[in-house]
This record gives sequence, C-alpha cells and structure tokens, in this order.
Amino acid sequence: MSAPTTINIGLCGFGTVGQGVWKHLFANRTELEARLGVKLNLARAAVRDLKKARTVKIPASKITSDPLAIATDPAIHIVCELMGGTTLARKVTLAALRAGKIVVSANKALICEHGAEIFATAQKHGGHFFFEASVAGGIPIIKAVREGLVANRFPRIYGILNGTCNYILTQMEENDAPYATVLAEAKRLGYAEADESLDVDGWDTAHKASVLAWLAHGVWVKTDQMIVEGISRITPADFKNASVLGFGIKLLAVITRDFAKNELSVRVHPTLLPAGNVVANVSGVFNAISVKGDVVGTTFYSGRGAGQDATASAVISDLADAAALLRFGKGAHLNSEVTTDACRGCRLAPPESIRSRYYLRLTVKDQPGVLARVASIMAKHHVSIASVIQNPAERAGAASLVLTTHESNEREMGATLKQLTALASTLDEPVLLRIGDFND
Ligand code: NAP
Ligand code: HSE
Repeated sequence: MSAPTTINIGLCGFGTVGQGVWKHLFANRTELEARLGVKLNLARAAVRDLKKARTVKIPASKITSDPLAIATDPAIHIVCELMGGTTLARKVTLAALRAGKIVVSANKALICEHGAEIFATAQKHGGHFFFEASVAGGIPIIKAVREGLVANRFPRIYGILNGTCNYILTQMEENDAPYATVLAEAKRLGYAEADESLDVDGWDTAHKASVLAWLAHGVWVKTDQMIVEGISRITPADFKNASVLGFGIKLLAVITRDFAKNELSVRVHPTLLPAGNVVANVSGVFNAISVKGDVVGTTFYSGRGAGQDATASAVISDLADAAALLRFGKGAHLNSEVTTDACRGCRLAPPESIRSRYYLRLTVKDQPGVLARVASIMAKHHVSIASVIQNPAERAGAASLVLTTHESNEREMGATLKQLTALASTLDEPVLLRIGDFND
C-alpha cells in the first residue's frame, strides 16, 4: 500500500483537549504541513452530547456521537483518544489498534490500567500508540526519557506531575486561599479531571508515575502497589510550619531504583522540599520533573502541566510523529511499543527500604505527659525526633505538635502512626508528610 499524502485524523473527544487540538492544528496547519511534507485533515470528531454548545466550531457533518465509528472508519489514519475514562476509551483504543491505526492518547489512567494490553495489541496488529500528552501536559518528558536520555539508567525521577494540585497548593501558600475556591477555579480553567478526586487524592499523579516508571524501568507498577496520598489534608498551618523549618510543600511522584539491591519504588505523596530546591520553586499549574540519569547526571524539565493549550501542544507533537511514520515509514517515535528489559528482575522495594525524614503534625490534648507518650511511641519504633514545635490549636484545650524526625522508614513510621492515632490524647487524625532531601 502506498504512503498517504493526506493524513485523516479523527478525534474521539472534543472537550478541553480535543477542542484545543482542533483549534491549534487548524491555526498552524500550513507550517506543520510544510515541515512534515503531508496534508493533515481533521476529518471527524466524536462527542457524548451533540447539542452541547462549544467554543470551537466545526461542521455538523463532521461530528458523531459514536467514537467507535471513528476508531473503525477505514478512511481514518490516526485516532486521538481524548475522552478520558477507562471503559469506552479502552474499547476505542483497542478497536483502532486492531485496525492497524495509530492511536494518540492523553489518557494516563487508561495507560496505567491497560498499558500492557494496549502495547501488545498494537504490536500484534501493526498499530502504534503514542502518549506524549499523558504525562506532564506540554512538557515533552516522554520523548526526553525515551529518546534524549536513552543512554541512561535512572536511579531517581521525581517531580510535580499534577497541575491542578500544584495550582491549589500555590494558591493556598501564597494567598491563604480556601481550598474549595481554588479547586473550583482549577476546574473552570480546564486543569482538573472530570472526577477531580483523581487530582486531589493523588491518583492522577500515580497514573503518570506508573507511565514514567514503565518507560524508565520497563515494568508496570499499579496504583495499589504504590503509596498514594493526596493534598486534601494539608492546611495553611502546614505551609507556615514548613516555612519555619525551611521547606515548601509539593505533591510529588518519586520513582527510585536501587540498582545494587535491584529494588524499585514508585510513590506519590505531599513532600517537604528544601526552600532552595528547584522543584520547590515551581508554582501554579506548572509541572517540574527532575530526572537523574547515570550517564548524564541530573536534568530538569518544567512547563505547563495541564490546560487546553499545553496539552494540545503535546498531542500535536504525537500527531506530527504519527504523520511522519505514515508518510515516510519513520518518525521520532522509537519503539514506543517495545520496552527493553530494563527491569532485569527488579522487585518493588519493601517498606523498610523506603527511607526518608518525616514531618508529623498532631492535634493533641494540651496536658502534662502527652509529649512524653508521643516520644515514647516514637522511640519504641526507633524513630528519632529531630525537632518539636508546639503551637496553640484552634480548639480550646488542644495543642498542635509539629515534629520532624531523623531518617526512618515506611515500616517504622507506619507502625508509629498507627499507635499515635490510637492514643486517647490524639484528637484528630495525624498528618504525616515525607521530607524530600533532594538537592538536585
Ligand atoms: P473533557 O473536557 O471532559 O472532554 C471529554 C470529551 O470526551 C468531551 O467532548 C465528551 O463529550 C467526550 N466524551 C466523553 N464520553 C463520551 C462518550 N461516551 N461518547 C462520546 N464522547 C464522549 O476532558 P479533557 O479535559 O479534554 O480530557 C480528555 C483526556 O485528556 C482525559 O484522559 C484527561 O485525563 C486527559 N488530559 C487532560 C488534560 C487537561 O488539562 N484537561 C491534560 C492532559 C491530559 P461532551 O463534550 O459531549 O461531553
Ligand atoms: N488533571 C491533570 C492535571 C491534567 O491537573 O495535571 C493534566 O494531566
């Protein structure tokens, strides 16, 4: 079959991201076509509600409410899955791949849950799956890890992977803004997932961490194999305490590989970062990723992590690779379906291997002996206290105890937390944050 000179693109999903892709592809089509040497035709788009008013207008004849019809349309070369969710999105993706098409996806939840099946289906049927927009919005981190840093093994990748959470944390820290108001604004700006708990409870970051871990280490780590903690229990008081101690607070994905023990750890949690750390200083909807390679050293990436334009930029970069692949049989996509056996029998790190310092905030009865009981529980689990701050709590007769520890591990801290929570003198569920001693 001869290579097409016009590439037909179908968009399954015409919401925030889909409309952005249409808008920018339309505006920059002439330059893109000149660069790529092919014509790009936005052929069809699928939505759920045909009557919904949309900012970006397209002819009614191009719109359908049946995304599977686009996935299986013989005239369509590239299917963009921009609907979200994991049920219909999986069906559409697999149908298009079975038809030997190229699928471009921004759907990290789908890749985390069904990545192995998706890549196997692509390989079996001669389709391809591109996913630059699935991690860190407009930052080309997939290309960076897969292509630019291909010479490296990756002892540590960490960073901010959720724009909504970073936007909320920044507004809380800088403007003391109420959580609910900032979340509503993040939704209005098109940053948040349709189900915002994916953002604020850390799941979206975990999906992205899973994709990055697979790229870097060739193993699928599911969210139930990770520590996943979100931002909803962080209060303005935590920012004040952290600042006194010389830290900022960010929701981080942390992927570490101990090559000597061959242990891999993938985790997501709010983290205290030293105020001078470059990631700690990335604000608003921006994402930031620090990638340490054993050959290159530490590299750093930052840019808008969510929103219509940033995400459209990443989707269009995949569309360009896909068009080059279709037209010339090559592209900058470098075996996206085939990971090397980068895992080499690695196992997930057990809790005692996951070590850090910790920040613990307890709301306790302001009575004699309470601090001694807290200290004794920590000592029993070999957790050494590094500092203590006592502040008045909002309620009468209570105190807020903020402790930091010397280095401990997840097993000892987990046991400590359980016992501290059960103490009669502990009034609220404790807040435990990890301290990220990352200096690059
Ligand atoms: P969105 O605004 O909610 O858009 C979803 C689109 O899919 C809408 O056009 C919707 O139709 C359509 N759709 C949903 N269910 C459908 C069904 N059963 N049949 C036909 N069409 C259906 O979502 P989004 O923010 O664009 O996100 C899309 C994907 O990109 C998600 O996987 C998300 O995680 C990912 N992503 C988003 C961002 C971002 O900043 N927003 C960034 C990176 C990645 P209607 O318009 O008729 O409702
Ligand atoms: N809801 C996601 C975020 C969209 O806020 O980062 C980008 O993946």
